[in-house]
Amino acid sequence: MKLLVTGGAGFIGSNFIYYILDKYTGDEVVCIDVLTYAGNYSTLEEAVKNKNFKFVKGDITDRQLVNELFEAEKFDAVVNFAAESHVDRSIENPEVFLKTNILGTQVLMDACLKYGVKRYHQVSTDEVYGDLPLDRPDLLFTETTPIKTSSPYSASKASADLLVLAYHRTFGLNATISRCSNNYGPYHFPEKLIPLMIINVLNNKPLPVYGKGENVRDWLYVTDHCSAIDLIVRNGRAGEVYNVGGNNEKTNIFIVKTIIKELGASEDLITYVTDRKGHDLRYAIDSTKIQNELGWKPQINFEDGIKKTIKWYLDNKPWWEEIVSGEYKNYYDKMYGNR
Ligand code: NAD
Ligand code: TYD
Repeated sequence: MKLLVTGGAGFIGSNFIYYILDKYTGDEVVCIDVLTYAGNYSTLEEAVKNKNFKFVKGDITDRQLVNELFEAEKFDAVVNFAAESHVDRSIENPEVFLKTNILGTQVLMDACLKYGVKRYHQVSTDEVYGDLPLDRPDLLFTETTPIKTSSPYSASKASADLLVLAYHRTFGLNATISRCSNNYGPYHFPEKLIPLMIINVLNNKPLPVYGKGENVRDWLYVTDHCSAIDLIVRNGRAGEVYNVGGNNEKTNIFIVKTIIKELGASEDLITYVTDRKGHDLRYAIDSTKIQNELGWKPQINFEDGIKKTIKWYLDNKPWWEEIVSGEYKNYYDKMYGNR
């Protein structure tokens, strides 16, 4: 199979590329990534040594470039990870979210139709369902939960999902969608909760917890998300949405305290800061459909996954030190300076 992976220099896309190259030695993978602040070419250092892998620097909203790539490469499947992915940035500047996440999706799907690609997969998020109350642990997101977004990020992802379903129904595009809960693991960009807290502990900096730290996320180790996407791309039914989640709900303050404990630091580093605007309370996924239909099961429990993740950040300091010493410093000061 020849796959196009978009956004493969980011967190989940890069993990997916390594997962595929390792599992299917006969598959070819092409990655297109424009290398925004969140994309790191160095993350793909090992992949570029593999003869079955090729990297193309380019923007998924660039129709001409995308069409030329599809014409030349004749992909069997496209997996779209490329996106602006950080909720806090979407609150500061929504426009680029609309451009990449919605229009980029359209450009890719048009190319799939034009060049007869057999499968288009949209990597979406559980955030399209909005949030759940903290006091109703019985409620979970299913694939039929209504779309009800809170942030410009989730609204842009939901818009893309609707467009994917419309392209399936109207033009017969062979498309699937996965909606996954929060991922964690290697190559996670330092702006997100888990890497931010690990790196701040290692640098002995305050740990900025939004609000009271009571918000709940359902954490899934990144390779378990990769295996789910792989199953959907190969065996999922066209026009279907598959929820993917870890059954692993944790409050933010629990996550922060776990990281502190694992690293032997002090809880005095915790600083409660002004809450995120429109902050979703709780995400929780019911992944019965993908488990029953495609036999997916997460392999890594949270206790092991968080240890592996912390170890990765300890073992790969140059990867994140280069990021946090650059432009990221300005972002950090702007977001957390007076919070
Ligand atoms: P990320 O921000 O780490 O990576 C995004 C990648 O996309 C970067 O390499 C960036 O350079 C690239 N990119 C951005 N705009 C582009 C453009 N116009 N053209 C080409 N490349 C572009 O994101 P991530 O956390 O790896 O998320 C990947 C996907 O998974 C996103 O679609 C996100 O919505 C979805 N998702 C993420 C999570 C999570 O917990 N991180 C959970 C569920 C779904
Ligand atoms: P994040 O990693 O941004 O993922 P998402 O908002 O897409 O779920 O944030 C996870 C949770 O952690 C979310 O409830 C916001 C919270 N959070 C903090 O408390 N402090 C921080 O510095 C960050 C980045 C997030």
